[in-house]
Amino acid sequence: MSFKIAVYPGSFDPLTKGHLDIIQRAAKVFDKLIVCVMVNNSKNYLFSSEERAQLITDSLEELDNVEVDTFNGLLIDYVRSRKTNIIVKGLRALTDFENEFQMALINKHLDNNIETFFMMTSNKYSYLSSSLVKELVKFQGNVSDFIPANVEKAIQKKHEEGFIK
Ligand code: PNS
Repeated sequence: MSFKIAVYPGSFDPLTKGHLDIIQRAAKVFDKLIVCVMVNNSKNYLFSSEERAQLITDSLEELDNVEVDTFNGLLIDYVRSRKTNIIVKGLRALTDFENEFQMALINKHLDNNIETFFMMTSNKYSYLSSSLVKELVKFQGNVSDFIPANVEKAIQKKHEEGFIK
């Protein structure tokens, strides 16, 4: 059997425990998982790509087959540059389907060799999003159940510096 490399792309602004859950599970399915911090043109980011990537790296423990990278360009170009055709995405209940379906089909249209695999987010994280985390922090809500400790420290610092609008 060939060595299976998968790319898990996303904004990760910031990484949540929902993302971590997908990373941990996907790392068991594929031989190597590349978590790639990318640009979604419809979003304004709180953290730079480098900050987002560093927060992911610092949150990962004992996952030897996971690499973290950044890329500003088309996802399929990145996937091909890593000598694979596999994309992994997390799917939350209802909210993600239409957008993810559209992106998977466009990527397939651009390169018929690309395969997108969806993993259902664990039930306990199915309502969680980076945007909600930012909103909670803005209004002093407790986010410790939703994001790793290093991410919480970093987002509180952004809040204190007045970056969460
Ligand atoms: O976490 P997000 O914001 O839902 O991730 C979306 C992301 C960054 C994976 C998507 O916007 C993307 O693939 N951006 C790279 C540019 C690209 O390839 N766009 C066409 C996708 S159909």
